[in-house]
Amino acid sequence: MDKRFKRTLITSALPYANGPVHIGHLAGVYVPADIYARYLRLKGEEVLFIGGSDEHGVPITIKAKAEGVTPQDIVDRYHNIIKASFEKLGISFDVYGRTTSATHRRVASDFFKRLYDKGEFIEKTSEQLYDEEAKQFLADRYVTGTCPHCGNEGAYGDQCEKCGTSLNATDLINPRSAITGNVPVLKETSHWYLPLDKWEPALREWILEGHKEWKSNVYGQCKSWLDMGLQPRAVSRDLDWGIPVPVEGAEGKVLYVWFDAPIGYISNTIDCVGDDWERWWKDPETKMIHFIGKDNIVFHCIVFPSMLMADGTYNLPENVPANEFLNLEDDKISTSRNWAVWLHEYLEELPERQDELRYVLTANAPETKDNNFTWRDFQSRVNSELVAVYGNFVNRAVVLVNKYYGGEVPSRGVLTAEDESMMAEVRESVTRLSECLDNYKFREGLKEAMNVARIGNKYLADSEPWKLYKTDPERVKTILNLAIQLCAQLSVVFEPFTPFSSAKIAEALGLPEMKWSMAGDFDLVPAGRHIAQLPLLFEKIEDSVVEAQVQKLLDTKKANELKAWQPESVKADVAFDEFEKMDIRIGRVTDCKKVKKSKKLLQFSIDDGMGGRTILSGIAAYYEPEELIGKNICFVANFAPRVMMGIESQGMILSAVNPDGSLRVITPEGDLTPGSIIG
Ligand code: 2FM
Ligand code: ZN
Repeated sequence: MDKRFKRTLITSALPYANGPVHIGHLAGVYVPADIYARYLRLKGEEVLFIGGSDEHGVPITIKAKAEGVTPQDIVDRYHNIIKASFEKLGISFDVYGRTTSATHRRVASDFFKRLYDKGEFIEKTSEQLYDEEAKQFLADRYVTGTCPHCGNEGAYGDQCEKCGTSLNATDLINPRSAITGNVPVLKETSHWYLPLDKWEPALREWILEGHKEWKSNVYGQCKSWLDMGLQPRAVSRDLDWGIPVPVEGAEGKVLYVWFDAPIGYISNTIDCVGDDWERWWKDPETKMIHFIGKDNIVFHCIVFPSMLMADGTYNLPENVPANEFLNLEDDKISTSRNWAVWLHEYLEELPERQDELRYVLTANAPETKDNNFTWRDFQSRVNSELVAVYGNFVNRAVVLVNKYYGGEVPSRGVLTAEDESMMAEVRESVTRLSECLDNYKFREGLKEAMNVARIGNKYLADSEPWKLYKTDPERVKTILNLAIQLCAQLSVVFEPFTPFSSAKIAEALGLPEMKWSMAGDFDLVPAGRHIAQLPLLFEKIEDSVVEAQVQKLLDTKKANELKAWQPESVKADVAFDEFEKMDIRIGRVTDCKKVKKSKKLLQFSIDDGMGGRTILSGIAAYYEPEELIGKNICFVANFAPRVMMGIESQGMILSAVNPDGSLRVITPEGDLTPGSIIG
């Protein structure tokens, strides 16, 4: 560790307790934070790893209202789910707290009061939207209206989900209160603001001059915020869910969720270590590292540090190794579309496969750019890396020792040049691995750990002990002794990444407490020790497992399509001349048959009044082809032709989707001539 520091405080973003956590959260924040914490502990360093739930904020109140329960009910539910699933995945928090705890309420309130008393806030009055019937100011999320950029009528006051633009509620055209549906009025209200502009020079110096080593995505985002110039930020809200602003006359106002949440790191430290907490937050020999996703950079690098500087007695973070985002099957992970792999579901559906998930999320971590998780890639990494390389080596070594020596580790004789070169290679790999982990390069570090297993496999394959057993038994003893030492080292180098399998190896080999210094050491398991048979470290992921998960996602997609029934699916207005570009006509089905090798497609021959055409339509699941012959249908005649399954489709047959997802062709009423124009 850097000589300036004696201990490390690791924080991981507090997830909102309004839903469970998914693989995006894990890959971005919790798995890397846990790898780092485990690594430092193995090195014998003093570490405190802080986690907890973020239980305030408007979305929680909206969810509670929608379900007819209290916000406390919501956060109780999800806090418990999240905490239990983290534990099961082996995320080794020293404490997992929550921001509705009594400690947090006191600590956050005192923090605000201290800054208030020091005169660190500006009080400002502004006009905010107010619902006169509900008698409350409306948080941006509580206002809907028309997006001024794209015309989406269902835009929220903080963001239009159609075009992605960030908005202020007062920007919306025809704003409506989401509580009563009434038109809100503008009303004056006063709030406390933290003048970030006051801290701008100090932030520039601290980050732009002092932390050029930060990851370029983090440094770059900070630089662009600072270059745009900082403005005062409101740190209170008119809301009835949160920590009351501890100032006389501030009734009905609470601390802004992003003011209280990072203070949660402090309160959770207090809940963990009691009076000793100041050593972790104020002693300059403590190094603080924030693990977060990229959407949290500004809060952890600009806003929270300004709060800490305004207080004046706290350390600033030494590094903020924020990650980019993880996509799922090439699509953005989205809670509202249920497009995610939820941790608690994974743990139930793939039991005892924690290491596999940790491994794949690290191997694919979005460290420098957004990355993608697919179930096929999950399967292939597990089968061809964990099973075929790491598991295979350990199992082979243990099986051979059991086969030849009844499970007793053989003694070793004189080492050959091959042995020495294998040992040197392992040590070099371990050095590179440590360097990666010291610099938050977990993905590359994992490759090095796997490289150690590869070295082991190659060593066994090259030295072929099974061929020498009869002719040179002494040599075989040496080879297998070294192989067992290597297994012991693998349990150490993989411990930060895949702790469950490391524990299995350590138990089978009778290892003492693991230490990082054991990596590269070939005297870990004494000759003569009886080692246990090891159950398979990893088992292959079968196709059926992947197919079931992919099917689950397809079902989600289908369910999302059904949301066509929700009012939000109403599309933005189009002008008549846009509509007029469509050539929609009546056609008569003269023939209809299944398309070979396709489960979805039917091939229609259509009398279109213009000589006839072929159209393919994906409705095979809902009709026997004969049912449709002779019917009149509606079709788009000027849809650009496209080839599917080797057949050119010259148009599109109109059908409608039912709430259960089934499709029905639209058949016009009355006697209509093929080719008639619809419009
Ligand atoms: O983005 C989020 O999920 C926030 N709940 C993170 C808060 S981090 C910290 F400040 F507590
Ligand atoms: Zn928009």
